[in-house]
Amino acid sequence: MPTALIIGASRGLGRALAEEHLKRGWAVIATVRDVAALADLPAAHGAALRVETLDTIDWAGVDALHGRLAGTVLDLLFVNAGISGPVTTPIGAVEPGAFTELMLVNALAPLRIIDRFADLLAADGTAAVMTSGLGSIANNNGGVRQPRPAPPRRKPGLADGRARLGAHRYGRAKRNALD
Ligand SMILES: NC(=O)c1ccc[n+]([C@@H]2O[C@H](COP(=O)([O-])OP(=O)(O)OC[C@H]3O[C@@H](n4cnc5c(N)ncnc54)[C@H](OP(=O)(O)O)[C@@H]3O)[C@@H](O)[C@H]2O)c1
Repeated sequence: MPTALIIGASRGLGRALAEEHLKRGWAVIATVRDVAALADLPAAHGAALRVETLDTIDWAGVDALHGRLAGTVLDLLFVNAGISGPVTTPIGAVEPGAFTELMLVNALAPLRIIDRFADLLAADGTAAVMTSGLGSIANNNGGVRQPRPAPPRRKPGLADGRARLGAHRYGRAKRNALD
């Protein structure tokens, strides 16, 4: 049975990824910040689902989860967790703390998590990071949601960069997780 570690699976796309892999016969280790978020899933999927708690910018928590998963072989490591941040806030009103959190959650944490868990990835395993077209530098022809000058973008470019860096550094890993 292949095993997936899905980071940020409490709701939305992450939860859907977890449910879909379970339906396809995978074992899924799903991380959430609040275990109540997936309280309804174990009944349907039993031992195939393991729920772990993780805040992706809690670096000690990332290390602790890595320790709890020692010996696990991952066929898929999928970092889905992300935040949208101050999408429509004018640049002059962007609060530095919120901007810093955006960068930590969307850019630094996925890279650190891939780096930390790479040793658990099967030789033919897949490491993937959920990104967004809104974070694409190549597609930025004039800002996404506001007229020029463009505001800080939802995932400032690094979202794409982080996936490419991960794929490059761990050459064995593919960038696409789903067939
Ligand atoms: N929806 C779209 O149309 C779309 C399109 C392109 C890309 N994306 C990307 O796909 C991903 C998921 O999108 P979504 O629409 O499903 O978003 P969502 O419903 O807002 O879910 C975000 C997920 O990320 C988790 N998360 C956020 N910050 C976290 C942190 N510091 N530590 C751990 N978990 C954290 C959330 O956990 P909590 O429940 O604990 O908050 C939740 O599970 C995001 O990276 C997003 O940028 C979405």
